[in-house]
Amino acid sequence: MDKIAAVVLAAGKGTRMVSDKVKVLHTVCGKPLLHYVIRSLQAVGVESIYAVVGYQSDEVEDAFKGESVFWVNHGDQRGTAHALSVTESMLNDWDGLLLVLCGDTPLLTPELLRKFIAKHKENKDTVATVLTTVLDDPNAYGRIIRDENGNVTAIVENAEADKSQKEIKEINSGAYVFNPDEVFRALKRVKPNKKNGEYYLTDVIKILASEGKQVAGYIAPAPEECLGVNTRDDLFNANKIMSGRIMNELMRKGVTIVYPANTYIETDVSIGRDTVIYPFTVINSGVVIGKNCEVGPFSHLRSGTVLADYAEVGNFTETKKTHLGRHSKAKHLSYLGDAIIGDDVNIGAGTITANYDGKKKHQTVIEDGASTGSGTILVAPVKMGKNAETGAGAVVPKGKNVPDNTTVVGIPAVPLKKGKGTTDKRR
Ligand code: UD1
Ligand code: CA
Repeated sequence: MDKIAAVVLAAGKGTRMVSDKVKVLHTVCGKPLLHYVIRSLQAVGVESIYAVVGYQSDEVEDAFKGESVFWVNHGDQRGTAHALSVTESMLNDWDGLLLVLCGDTPLLTPELLRKFIAKHKENKDTVATVLTTVLDDPNAYGRIIRDENGNVTAIVENAEADKSQKEIKEINSGAYVFNPDEVFRALKRVKPNKKNGEYYLTDVIKILASEGKQVAGYIAPAPEECLGVNTRDDLFNANKIMSGRIMNELMRKGVTIVYPANTYIETDVSIGRDTVIYPFTVINSGVVIGKNCEVGPFSHLRSGTVLADYAEVGNFTETKKTHLGRHSKAKHLSYLGDAIIGDDVNIGAGTITANYDGKKKHQTVIEDGASTGSGTILVAPVKMGKNAETGAGAVVPKGKNVPDNTTVVGIPAVPLKKGKGTTDKRR
């Protein structure tokens, strides 16, 4: 019984989000909620992942193209028990364990899941184990009822709980390990909830316990890991915790983040040691930053940005799909989009790469040693050669590449001849 198959319940609309978008596609640090659940399962090394989807299932499947996930349709969402039951035909002869998670709990770590699974395996009589935690304010969650031996005998939803049950601070995280034959059998005995007609997976616990089967509870030591995202407020909390984790990890690896409370760094950002991130900086997923760089304050590095070692990006500069070479700088008020910028380049204050012609995006290339004067506009596609320069306010039209070692000035920018002023007759 060592192998594990995982089921992720992700079919619900997420009414409490008050959104046109299915809940599990709402993002935390740049990635959908469901992304984190799948990633933790992969890290644990489960044999297979079944995701139960229903509301906007096409959109959900699209967002995870290429992941090895079996998508199971739960067209008519009649509650969490109903959601798990739709996987039965795929899993009823599975001879390993079944790990069931909710798609809206993005903070569960692989380390916690491993301990949780180990707890289930501790006692061979245990047929189900619930991942629980203890909260000061347990109100949004189902409460854990235990007997005098510590076995779990029921989970009571907040809405159903009586006064004394409401006092219980141990809550259901919505994660379970089951012996598959036991759970699929018990699922058939779940009755619809009297108030809303939904089939609650939590009722399975009471059914198993009443049959004399042993149900264990494993208390997650860090309650934040069990956060379930139901509302926008929960989403904010998940973002806060996740971004804290991301920044702590970067700091551990030698990155200075001057003031994390005012910095937002998404998942899957790589930053080299001794780089300093100043406040009010936003760094999106996929950005790669080298060693000894300086970023911020007030910088926005969007996806596809790569900063080589010693690069500097400063105040009010936005980059997207842009490579900035070693020792190159863009310190003030710039937009650099779809740009390949070499080493030792100075991007003057207010330089803009005009990458979009209203239909398509185009590339700007700026070679080693080049520099742009303040307020330069480079209309892509265009290239500045090695050590080329632009004067302040220059507008370099598309295709009018600036040759190596040449300075251009004006609108449209034309070469400045050494000692003779420009070749522009207007001057
Ligand atoms: C559930 C638990 C509650 C627990 C909490 C932990 C039940 C009845 N209650 O409540 O005890 O404390 O999680 O976060 O299980 N889903 C489907 N199909 C459905 C309904 C839901 O796939 O028909 C999915 C949702 O997409 C979601 C997950 O199941 O990812 C949990 O559903 P949700 O409505 O968020 O349950 P909670 O009210 O949070
Ligand atoms: Ca939930």
